Amino acid sequence: MTISVILVAAGSGERLGSSRPKAFVDLAGRTLLEHSLQAVTGLSPVPQVVVVAPEAWVGPAQELARGVLGDDAEISVVAGGATRTESARRGLAAISQDSDVVLIHDAARALTPTEVFSRVIDAVHSGAKGVTPTLDVVDTMVPRDRATGETSAAIDRDGLAITQTPQGFDASALREAFAAFDGDATDDAEVLRASGVAVVAVEGHRDAVKVTYLHDLEVLRARISPANANIFAGVGIDVHRFEDGESLVVGGMTFDGAKGLAGHSDGDVVLHAITDALLGAASLGDLGTHFGSSRPEYAGVSSTVFLYQALRMMREAGYEPQSVAVQFIGNEPRLGAVREQMGKQLSEMVGAPVHVSATTTDGLGLTGRGEGAGAVAHALVVRH
Ligand code: CTP
Ligand code: MG
Repeated sequence: MTISVILVAAGSGERLGSSRPKAFVDLAGRTLLEHSLQAVTGLSPVPQVVVVAPEAWVGPAQELARGVLGDDAEISVVAGGATRTESARRGLAAISQDSDVVLIHDAARALTPTEVFSRVIDAVHSGAKGVTPTLDVVDTMVPRDRATGETSAAIDRDGLAITQTPQGFDASALREAFAAFDGDATDDAEVLRASGVAVVAVEGHRDAVKVTYLHDLEVLRARISPANANIFAGVGIDVHRFEDGESLVVGGMTFDGAKGLAGHSDGDVVLHAITDALLGAASLGDLGTHFGSSRPEYAGVSSTVFLYQALRMMREAGYEPQSVAVQFIGNEPRLGAVREQMGKQLSEMVGAPVHVSATTTDGLGLTGRGEGAGAVAHALVVRH
């Protein structure tokens, strides 16, 4: 099945009262849109993503999406309409023709965990034409006359649920529903129901709250601030032997030299140490467990594959990298001139600051004798 995710991000955020559209407001160093995109990166494979942005923000949205999803992702950005329904309609028109499952998600639900996306996708795969995440209503609900303020007898809340996004749909059922619908609905499940098709519930998540008022933003900011977060540390060490005829790859960069580092993959000790530190911090085992020499499909591959796969696994498990420090240990290659650039490239890959340093071992040991090189990395990750 081919999946497309539409992020509706074209609202102005009137109730939030910010100077920029809501999806472009900052939450702990990233825009709400970037947080929402981040959740999508936890899905494997990463689906096609359509961002619906305010017309003047199509360019910035494109850049943010590329930054989070990477160069290989299939991304479209289209301009939204005057209502949420119109924006969703335009997003739906932009999904690829071969998509058979479509998810529509409010970018304003910035901290929705990937597990909610997965639950919705699973329910569509099991045959539901429409799926919405829901939560039990915990407060007493009463009808209230807006003009007079008069309230009436409570509604039985057992029969009610709060709906969230992402909502998932069979693409052709949703296309038909939108074609026949010409009103304004607050979500897309409502559009499907209007065409007579049932929508089933899966469990939502309290973190999938929609940022509507400033207070919501403040609550989420506190939720992910390091002071309140669950922070875990991981450490990774890797060593490889120099061998003739191997190309020398360190920290994802290729160096000219007579010898390279031998290994099952490209022998990149820096990337291996980082990947191990991240996996360890997220309690997900180690490099050997996932990509060891018993896995022939990884022979000779670029170690960036390991890093990206580990990041995906982490995000699926609810972990986000915060920072990494890695130290290369060896005589060759000299990293001084490229250290900063390497750090920048690695930071982009990891999605968090990566600091690179290098040392020699005073001529002692296998690295000192130039028989091989190693790296040690330390990672901090946050569990949401
Ligand atoms: N949305 C959209 N196009 C619109 C209106 C809303 O894409 N014309 C999107 C918003 O960007 C948001 C989601 O739909 O991600 C849910 O809408 P809401 O929370 O109401 O956002 P806003 O309309 O931006 O906020 P407000 O109603 O306070 O102006
Ligand atoms: Mg609105």
